[in-house]
Amino acid sequence: MQILIKDGRVVDPGNYDGIADIFIEDGKIVKIQSNDNPRQLPTSNEQPATRNKQQAYRTIDATGKIVTPGLIDMHVHLREPGHEYKETIETGCLAAAAGGFTAVCCMPNTNPVNDNSQVTKFIIEKARLADTVRVYPVAAISKGLQGTGLSEYGDLKDAGAVAISDDGCPVTDSQLMRRAMEYAKRFGLLIISHCEDLNLLAEGVMNEGALATRMGLSGIPNACESVMVMRDIALCELTGSPVHIAHVSTMESVRAIRDAKSRGVAVTAETAPHYFTLTEDAVGRYDTNAKMNPPLRSKDDREAIRKGLADGTIDVIATDHAPHSTIEKEVEFDRAANGIIGLETSVSLSLKLVEEGILKIEELVEKMSTNPARILRIENGLTVGNSADITIIDPDRSYIVDVESFRSISRNTPFNGLEVKGKAILTMVGGKIVFDEKNNNL
Ligand code: DOR
Ligand code: ZN
Repeated sequence: MQILIKDGRVVDPGNYDGIADIFIEDGKIVKIQSNDNPRQLPTSNEQPATRNKQQAYRTIDATGKIVTPGLIDMHVHLREPGHEYKETIETGCLAAAAGGFTAVCCMPNTNPVNDNSQVTKFIIEKARLADTVRVYPVAAISKGLQGTGLSEYGDLKDAGAVAISDDGCPVTDSQLMRRAMEYAKRFGLLIISHCEDLNLLAEGVMNEGALATRMGLSGIPNACESVMVMRDIALCELTGSPVHIAHVSTMESVRAIRDAKSRGVAVTAETAPHYFTLTEDAVGRYDTNAKMNPPLRSKDDREAIRKGLADGTIDVIATDHAPHSTIEKEVEFDRAANGIIGLETSVSLSLKLVEEGILKIEELVEKMSTNPARILRIENGLTVGNSADITIIDPDRSYIVDVESFRSISRNTPFNGLEVKGKAILTMVGGKIVFDEKNNNL
């Protein structure tokens, strides 16, 4: 199939920004034609001879739209194997495509845990059968996420794991984390760290402060996250192994990461849309759809996260898409599961940062595509010869978030009913259209 994406604003940070046509053949980008020059079709040495090339292309009119390299969500929970009633690899991939993502990294806290090559291969096979977006498994740092013994990183890497993490659980034992970093470095595997001090967590279920006191709920101090961020920065310096800090939520973490980066430490970081959009106030009515770990924080923390995004301290926006069923959410607040779904709201919520002048559109694309690809060493970018993984965004589309329209099996989002502006309208993976708003059945 030959596809022409015509007249869109192509935003590929560090590579291209301008109105252009993108020509796709056999799943690959064969030409990017700037519209500053007279329009022409690919030259004959770039593609097989076709009599009438103009007609051979299926044309997608992208006038007024933003065309970006495929968005990558480097932090999602697909729940398979083991918790298929919350999400399957297939439904998670459909949700990702509908959200504009061409690739996701799935965390290992499944049942069984992805701590061995069989589980990694199972996930890759299921993703192949789903045939939607690319799925990059993240395997466990420690066996069974128990924090006591390391998993076999060589086997996991050979099976297709792109990174390792005990996400959902911290690696409490600093010596084990040190060994994990040394071991991971040998295999070129990135460590993604879930930073949480379980002693400081204690019985906490929301942000520590006056609101938690009024609500009669136990609080989680900022230090619960930041002491572990600081420890991992120290271990990163000790071992020279790159470390990526997951779901940053506090100002102290942002400050520590900024300082480490200024010293040249190989640390990178992500935050999620809920941390730059909401504050602990969203929990105010005991809404379990606003309960996640780390918790929503104060206004000052939200401000620090926004500043961290703006100045490059935070490299990546990832969703931490964490599906849970009503069985786990429609219960007392302190007993409810942590986590919210995010794949189908991320682009809209993130575009608000552009509207508010916090990020330029090219910086947003960096954080949702270029940087995750660089950190994970995944091929990406709108370059001739690359696989045609492309997202088309309508920046002007206003709509009301309707959870009932989601592809995800789960419904746990605090954003239902919110009016937002900007939406992914077409997602293409390897030249195949996996989501097209005009054809909702895809
Ligand atoms: O809110 C969260 N949900 N935080 C985590 O660390 C784990 C995740 C999950 O797996 O549900
Ligand atoms: Zn997570």
